Amino acid sequence: MDYAKRLSWLEDQSLLKAFQLAETEDMISFSAGFPSSETYPLDAVKESMARVIENQGEAALSYCSTSGYSKLRQILIKRMADKFGLDYALDEIIITSGSQQGLDMSGMLFVNEGDVVIFEEPSYLGAVNALRAYQAELVSVPTDREGMEIPALRDILERYGKRVKMIYVNPDFQNPTGRSWSDERRKEFMEFIKGYEIPVLEDAAYGELSFDKERQKPLAYYDKKGQVVYIGTFSKIFCPGLRVAWLCARRDIMEKYLVLKNAADLSSSTIAQMQMADYMEHNDLDGHIKSICALYKHRRDVMAGMIDSEFPKEVKYVLPKGGLFIWLELPEGKDAAELLVRAAQKKVAFITGASFYPSAKKNNELRLNFSNMSDEKTERGMKILGAITKEYLNG
Ligand SMILES: Cc1ncc(COP(=O)(O)O)c(C=O)c1O
Repeated sequence: MDYAKRLSWLEDQSLLKAFQLAETEDMISFSAGFPSSETYPLDAVKESMARVIENQGEAALSYCSTSGYSKLRQILIKRMADKFGLDYALDEIIITSGSQQGLDMSGMLFVNEGDVVIFEEPSYLGAVNALRAYQAELVSVPTDREGMEIPALRDILERYGKRVKMIYVNPDFQNPTGRSWSDERRKEFMEFIKGYEIPVLEDAAYGELSFDKERQKPLAYYDKKGQVVYIGTFSKIFCPGLRVAWLCARRDIMEKYLVLKNAADLSSSTIAQMQMADYMEHNDLDGHIKSICALYKHRRDVMAGMIDSEFPKEVKYVLPKGGLFIWLELPEGKDAAELLVRAAQKKVAFITGASFYPSAKKNNELRLNFSNMSDEKTERGMKILGAITKEYLNG
C-alpha cells in the first residue's frame, strides 16, 4: 500500500509502545503519562450521567454544535478567569476531543510542508508527532530550569526567518521534564515574541496539577496581541476517557479552527460534554483536584525517595513541584535505551529521553511517570531499576 508522504516519520513508536505496555498486567510501567484510574470519580460520573439523560433526554445523544456545549464553555470561561485571570468570550473557546485534537488542528491550520515549528528541548512527544505529520521541520530551542532560553530562540528565529510558522510550549510541569517556566521567563518570552507574527501554542495540560498552593499565570495571561492559542484538558484533572478538552483563541483565528473542527469530527461527544458541565455544577472539581494532587505528591515522594536510596549518586534529577513525571539524567555518554532493554527483561518500563527530542537528541535521559503505580509497585520497580542502573554504570 502507498501511505501518505506525511507519515514518513513513523519510525519512532515510543508513545504508542508506552500505551500498549500500560495494558500488560504484570509490567511495572513508569512509561505512559496516565493519571491514576483510582482517582476517577465513578459514583459522581454515574450520577451526573443519569441526570443528563433524565434532564436532557435525546439531546444528550444528538450531535452538538461544532463549537461545543455552550453551558460547558461558559463554565470554563469563568473558571479560567477565576483561576488564571484569563479573559475569553464565548466565541473564543471551542470544545475539542482531547487536547490532542487541538494540537492536530493547529498543525492543520498553521503548518505547510517544509515550514518550521519550534519546540522546547525536550518536548511532549504527542505534539511532536502531531506536528511532524504535517511535514514540518522541527527545530528545538534549549531550555534551562526557568524555561525556553530567549537568546537561543532569538538566534533560531533569525536563522529560519519567515519559515517559522508556530511555537509549541508546555510551560507547566512539562511533559517530559516536570519543569515549570518561571514567572519572569513567561513575561520575558511574551515580551520578546510579540515582535513576531508567530502563533504560540500553549499546552496547559498540567497547569492545575500543582503540589503547592501557588498557581502560575499562563503565557496567555501576558498576551496583549492575541498571539497565544491556549489549550486545556480534563484528562489529567478528571479522566481522559471522556475526551473532553478545550481550545481558546482570538476571534479571527477561532473562525478558522471552527471550520477545521467541523471537518475533523463535526462535534465532540455531546453526552460527555453535558456530563462534564453537570459534574461541575453539582460537585466540587477543585476539591477533587486537590485530592489528586495530594496523592500524586505522595507518589512523587515515594519515587524520589527510592531514587535517593537505590540509585547511584551520579544519576541526577530535579524534584518536580507538580505534574506526573520525574526526569532522570545518567552521566554523559551513557544510553538510556540500553537501560530500557535490561529493565524490560525484568518487567519494568519507562520511556527513554531521546524520544522527546524533536531534533538533535540526547541519549542519557529517561522519563519516569509516578502517578500511576501503587507505592508497593513503585518501590519494587524502582529497586529493580536502581540495581540495573548501578550494574550498567559500573559495567
Ligand atoms: C502535554 C500534553 N498535552 C496534551 C496531552 C493530550 O491529552 P488529551 O488529548 O487527553 O487531552 C497530553 C497527554 O499525555 C500531554 O501530556
